[in-house]
Amino acid sequence: MTNFPPRFGIWALVHGSRAARQDPEEPFDACWERNRNLVLEAERLGFDSTLVAQHTFNPHNPALGELEAWTGSAALAALTSRIEIIAAIKPLLYNPVVLAKMALQIEEISGGRFAINLVNAWNKAEMDKAGLPFPEHDARYTLGDEWLSVVAPLMRGELVNHKGPHFEVQGAQIVPKAATRPGPRIYIGGESEPARALAAAQGDVWFINGQPIEDVKALIADLARRPRRDQPLRYGLSAFVIARRTEAEAQAAYERLAALAELDKPQLAKMAVHTDKAVVMKQTMAKSARVGTNGGTAAGLVGTYDQVAERLKRFHEAGIETFMLQFQPFEAEMRRFAEEVMPRVNRAKAA
Ligand SMILES: Cc1cc2nc3c(=O)[nH]c(=O)nc-3n(C[C@H](O)[C@H](O)[C@H](O)COP(=O)(O)O)c2cc1C
Repeated sequence: MTNFPPRFGIWALVHGSRAARQDPEEPFDACWERNRNLVLEAERLGFDSTLVAQHTFNPHNPALGELEAWTGSAALAALTSRIEIIAAIKPLLYNPVVLAKMALQIEEISGGRFAINLVNAWNKAEMDKAGLPFPEHDARYTLGDEWLSVVAPLMRGELVNHKGPHFEVQGAQIVPKAATRPGPRIYIGGESEPARALAAAQGDVWFINGQPIEDVKALIADLARRPRRDQPLRYGLSAFVIARRTEAEAQAAYERLAALAELDKPQLAKMAVHTDKAVVMKQTMAKSARVGTNGGTAAGLVGTYDQVAERLKRFHEAGIETFMLQFQPFEAEMRRFAEEVMPRVNRAKAA
């Protein structure tokens, strides 16, 4: 059981719809204006966090647009006032000193609401097109681990001298440091053994892909027994929500999205050739039928308002603090969640 109240977040729509990309109710739109309006509305509705995924090219279809995560996050930080802004980062793309400087700048712009989500990549095409190396799975984690061992102290404003296999940093200290807390929060996304080791050693929050509660409990138990330097690790869960007045309506909405998602399969098959087969997250997701990315509806948040609220409560009792949610059509379903589900979870919590 977590001591922290549940927090609700939304995946920003950096590459458009999350479940199906040929949906007449949600035409493709990943532009800045939509994302700005979406996150501002989420903040007004009471959401606590937004995750801005990082991809240089749209991973589902490179011919479509993609919002740039770090410049987008900086702008969101300036426009919002309460919501946490988490920008994803792949260590392969940025020098650690430059990245720590950018993170502390957004920390200042946001007034202490910025976080990074370290992810170690799966889409080889993203690196190939930029002429960057794409080491094999565990080697990416070795590099990511060293990269974060430089970035984390820099984000705390510490003086860093480091000489390792991948990076050499001498006399680096970022000024100004974070004004209101030690530094931006560090989320880690990934499910493999090295991802777990990295989260336990250097993360503040471990992001779990949407999956059934028993699997989530086993994952949390595995992480909770690992030694930590200081504060206990906290947990986030990605999930796609379909909440309706009745079960039949929720099921019909699921089936509508599942049928539309079929239309994307030929395009997704083309992208699959660029996916690193060693990525555990992709193996987990292949196990169950679902809509949405990062586990999507495999977390079981499809049902009546009461059922979804009850399942969220059970995940919270199992240790999940932050729920990073997806919907489709996003804006309308996000509003419905804020109106119907959030109050039910909060009432259950109060009781
Ligand atoms: C919550 C979450 C968010 C993610 N966001 C991104 C992202 O923004 N960009 C990206 O390329 N990969 C993202 N990933 C995928 C990771 O790159 C992927 O999990 C990584 O390859 C780790 O593989 P593993 O599961 O084998 O540890 C995300 C994963 C999770 C769990």
